[in-house]
Amino acid sequence: MADPSKRPKKKKSPYTAERGIVGAYEGETVTRRVLFTGGALAAGGVATAAFALPALGFALGPLFEQQNPRSFQDVGPESDFNPQTYVPKVMTISTDAGEAGKTTVYVRKYDPSRDTDKLKQPYVAVSTRCAHAGCPVRYVQAAQRFICPCHGGVYDFDGKVSGGPPVRPLDRFDTKVENGGVLVGARFSLDSKLERHNPRGPRDHLDGVWQYIYPSRPTT
Ligand code: FES
Repeated sequence: MADPSKRPKKKKSPYTAERGIVGAYEGETVTRRVLFTGGALAAGGVATAAFALPALGFALGPLFEQQNPRSFQDVGPESDFNPQTYVPKVMTISTDAGEAGKTTVYVRKYDPSRDTDKLKQPYVAVSTRCAHAGCPVRYVQAAQRFICPCHGGVYDFDGKVSGGPPVRPLDRFDTKVENGGVLVGARFSLDSKLERHNPRGPRDHLDGVWQYIYPSRPTT
């Protein structure tokens, strides 16, 4: 008796109808079906990418944009500053944005007799970016407060929130002294106890577990 495994195999039909493939029509070959299905999928992929890639770039682009100065900038001689009040100085936070890349920073001398933070900065350089929605705050010496004009945010002399909607103190910048000049460096954020954290965006809470829910954005 002949071995069934050695019988010649029946050749498969090249037509989709004869193979019982769903949606088959007369004369359609399997090759044509595969080609058209692949072509339709590729066209769909290109169309989706045309919409998705620009949106993705728009959403993720700011994460990679350098907005935090890496190098220190000279903001004036030590004689310009004292511990009693803040002096506004202009520094560059984005080198490729012209005038728009500059910001005001409020600088005063660290006062070991009243300052209790453990930040070890010789000068206190406070960011003007409100921790609510980013409006520029203004320091008012008569009240010893930073005031935000947008939604009534108020910060005390140390930049801690004393009223309104901001969620954390004003950010600060690293400072150091070199050859009698005061240098201002990278931005950092603070929680309500004035403990240092990597920079966060406006609105990002920092106390307790919030620091993990709002992770640092290195270029913020
Ligand atoms: S942006 Fe400053 S209070 Fe809203």
